[in-house]
Amino acid sequence: MKRKEVTEVFNEAELAQLVSQAEQAFASAVTGDQLRAARIAHLGESSPVSLANRAIATLPKASRKEVGQAIGATRFAITTALSAREPIVAEWDLQARIRDERVDMTLPVTLHPQGALHPVTALIHELGDIFTAMGWEVADGPEAEADWLNFDALNFTPDHPARFLSDTFFLDPPEDKRILRTHTSPVQMRTLLTRDLPVYVVVPGKVYRSDEYDATHLPVFHQLEGLAVDKGLGMADLKGTLDHMARALFGANARTRLRPHFFPFTEPSGEIDLACFVCEGQSVGNPARPCRTCRSEGWIEWGGCGVVNPRVLAAAGIDTEVYSGFAFGMGIDRTVMFKNGAQDMRDFAEGDTRFSRLLVGVAR
Ligand code: PHE
Repeated sequence: MKRKEVTEVFNEAELAQLVSQAEQAFASAVTGDQLRAARIAHLGESSPVSLANRAIATLPKASRKEVGQAIGATRFAITTALSAREPIVAEWDLQARIRDERVDMTLPVTLHPQGALHPVTALIHELGDIFTAMGWEVADGPEAEADWLNFDALNFTPDHPARFLSDTFFLDPPEDKRILRTHTSPVQMRTLLTRDLPVYVVVPGKVYRSDEYDATHLPVFHQLEGLAVDKGLGMADLKGTLDHMARALFGANARTRLRPHFFPFTEPSGEIDLACFVCEGQSVGNPARPCRTCRSEGWIEWGGCGVVNPRVLAAAGIDTEVYSGFAFGMGIDRTVMFKNGAQDMRDFAEGDTRFSRLLVGVAR
């Protein structure tokens, strides 16, 4: 920029105007950044006062002193205005920071609703603990399962009703012969084919049956399979294991009974009932004291069980002269219902965390 004659540009009125412009600029600055920008514009190296100051040297000697004093006074006035504004803006900046960086130590730490373990998951953990404490292992298998493992390997005949479309979900393409497993028992054969003897495993998992979706049925539910194969195992070991499981889940007074039943993969087979721990049998034949938990029957159906059919062991290449075993399978969702008092199966599937929190408590 070509310097102009100072006196030509900055007569007294103009110098006064520089002061009032600077004052206005400082007054309208409300943050430290704005005030810094105003300072550079009005006092910085290329501000009008600085330029004027530098131009003094080009003036005729005689007028230098007078012009120099006028510019010095101008600069002093601007600097004074700036210093007056600085503490005010600094205080505002501080207040803004205090406001913006505020942390309210009294607010609760968790601001979003917490989830909870699903009651089925919680019971699966509990069952896993009960069995691993006895030295058993937890195994698993796929939900999309080979037809052969779900049925044939378990000694189901080709015309067994459980295979029919009405119960089983078949997967495409049909030539793959895969289904959604209808029980956790196919993991029995998977276990026998992959693990060394003796075998003591429990298998929690999802199973699928084309049932209605209502208060007592879900098309997807959970089972706990148990399988033990060792030398000399039999019915008494099965009963002892189930009793232990019942007591671990329902308390020292829990009792079980076995009723004869049929499963193709166990022989003999039974159904296991749990003595009703709510009415303890008091409701049976006693309309004055009905029991919702056992429907006044005194016993709650819990699952199926039996001594492993030697044909199943033989199919896995196990010497049935040396080894025998027992197996059981119970509904986990059902167990949650009578253990924790859930009323409606649909609550298990709807994902409302209030249901989980009510039954299990908030997850940690
Ligand atoms: N798989 C059987 C069912 O779903 C239960 C069962 C398991 C029976 C193991 C005997 C042995 O009903």
